[in-house]
Amino acid sequence: MWDGRKDTLEEQALGPMESAAEMNLDMEQLPIILGNIPGYAVLFKEAFPNQSDPISAKNVAKAIATFERTVVSGEAPFDRWIKGDEAALSDEEKQGFIVFNSKGGCAGCHSGWAFSDSSFHDIGLSSEDIGRGKLLPKIEKMQFAFKTVGLRNIALRAPYMHDGSIETLEGVVDHYNSKFIRRPSLSDEIEPLNLTNEEKKQLVAFLKTLTSPDEGVSVPVLPR
Ligand code: HEC
Repeated sequence: MWDGRKDTLEEQALGPMESAAEMNLDMEQLPIILGNIPGYAVLFKEAFPNQSDPISAKNVAKAIATFERTVVSGEAPFDRWIKGDEAALSDEEKQGFIVFNSKGGCAGCHSGWAFSDSSFHDIGLSSEDIGRGKLLPKIEKMQFAFKTVGLRNIALRAPYMHDGSIETLEGVVDHYNSKFIRRPSLSDEIEPLNLTNEEKKQLVAFLKTLTSPDEGVSVPVLPR
């Protein structure tokens, strides 16, 4: 099933098909708005020299993608464990990894090095935003579907979900355990987990091992 995925960061940033839902305005208006901010005119000229029209939608996409490539996370305790350092994780955290892959069913979507399948799913949040459904109105499973979020540095990113509706990782685990909304678009992979309190604690402990001790991303000061 085609879920409207775009492969490169540039394509994702540009998103011409969904411009109404992107940056909350028509993509054609964006260069005009930016061009009226003197600080941006200078910065775009510097970043894209020798171009007659440096503030274009294409260059905006390039600039955003270039920033996104600086958002990287370093080695986390989990990575040291995978490399063979048995002492990098506690027994509770290791048990949590087992729950993540088995009873919790998390790895079905949070897979690979970034813990994301880069695909879109409805996980039953109560937000009224139909997400990917705006782009693919006829595909039932894309209603209320959002892109699987990678889980690296997750402990530093509360509140959780696209609408920030879940405050804590414990709350996230409770959501998947039983609190999701049932509707036709709900992913087939979301079902009651019947986790014990111990398993819930193990899962949260594991999620915290994905956080690297690096500095994080500094937010640039933007021209206004
Ligand atoms: C059916 C696919 C799927 C499964 C299974 C799944 N997730 Fe998710 N997960 C998602 C999607 C999609 C999002 C983003 C939802 C949104 O923002 O609307 C998400 C978001 C999250 C977030 C919040 C990320 C953030 O930065 O806000 C955490 C934490 C998380 N999942 C952990 C888990 C855990 C733990 C499990 C197993 C108990 C799990 N997920 C199972 C698809 C899935």
